[in-house]
Amino acid sequence: MEEYVIQTEDLTKSYDSWFKKASRPALNKLNISIPKNCIFGFLGPNGAGKTTTIKILMGLIRPTGGKAVVLGKPYDDVESKNRIGFLPDSPAFTPTLSALEFLDVCARLLKIPSDTRKQRVEEVLEIVRMAPHAKSKIGTFSRGMLQRIGIAQAILNKPDLLILDEPLLGLDPYGRQEFKEIILAQKQQFQASVFFSSHILSDVAEICDNISILNKGKLLCAGPLDTLLSGGGEGVTVDISGTVHVRELITEADQVVKKGNEEWELFFKKPESALLSRINNLSEQFCDAVQIRKGGEDLESFFFKKIEEDNARNN
Ligand SMILES: Nc1ncnc2c1ncn2[C@@H]1O[C@H](COP(=O)(O)OP(=O)(O)O)[C@@H](O)[C@H]1O
Ligand SMILES: [Mg+2]
Repeated sequence: MEEYVIQTEDLTKSYDSWFKKASRPALNKLNISIPKNCIFGFLGPNGAGKTTTIKILMGLIRPTGGKAVVLGKPYDDVESKNRIGFLPDSPAFTPTLSALEFLDVCARLLKIPSDTRKQRVEEVLEIVRMAPHAKSKIGTFSRGMLQRIGIAQAILNKPDLLILDEPLLGLDPYGRQEFKEIILAQKQQFQASVFFSSHILSDVAEICDNISILNKGKLLCAGPLDTLLSGGGEGVTVDISGTVHVRELITEADQVVKKGNEEWELFFKKPESALLSRINNLSEQFCDAVQIRKGGEDLESFFFKKIEEDNARNN
């Protein structure tokens, strides 16, 4: 039994060539382990190395160092790719084919037997809510519709692992909601594992069990989302409005963010029980003015903090 669907060890990629030396590796000693049956968000600003990692995992480019094991096989194993659904960052579609025809071609390439092929294509069109457009030409589709077709082809084969490069890009809020439902169903109903890169932190926070943050080719952190956001599992964030209550707590907070005029966010890494009961009392007394958030920071501030800390270290 494979415990992890993806495991990398010091995975490195430098785009050096004989005529041009890259200033730094695009990917620098990446070590990640992605457990089975989880949704893993792979985060990082533009140029962090996300697409590079995904291309290596799919066997599309070779690393210059380190190892990657996908579904228990080396990254360049061809057979195991049949168990993976893949959405590249800029998928190429044949504009003259209809959605139905395109997915039928994909299903043939995946060697889905002819007796189930038609039914499966119709099923996935239904899942991504593109059934009404089944017969329309792909060339007439909007970016969001194309993204749905991309997701449809990725799940055609009922994969054990989905690897998706920026799948939320170009989707409107409805599309993103539907995408989240599709991904959750892949995990819950089909026991699939999902690895996807994204910039849309609120969606990541909503559906991911695990995340990692990559910056300039280096991994800044990885692990279960709630553990990371609570600074190790015991952290508490308190949102406060009004300076009166803040004064009681501010000196004891591990991190203080002034969010607005008389609005504060205090983070306590490991609050002792005495401190916790004081916070609880304040919260009961002042309700809206003192609000406790278990599980720490929100992903957005955590993300920016990590990236900014790293950028400051390297400057
Ligand atoms: N084919 C390539 N040749 C040279 N440099 C590349 C190539 N592809 C990506 N890079 C560089 O590698 C770094 C990481 O890129 P990429 O993996 O696309 O990041 P992300 O997907 O996180 O935005 C960037 O600095 C990018 O310019
Ligand atoms: Mg990319």
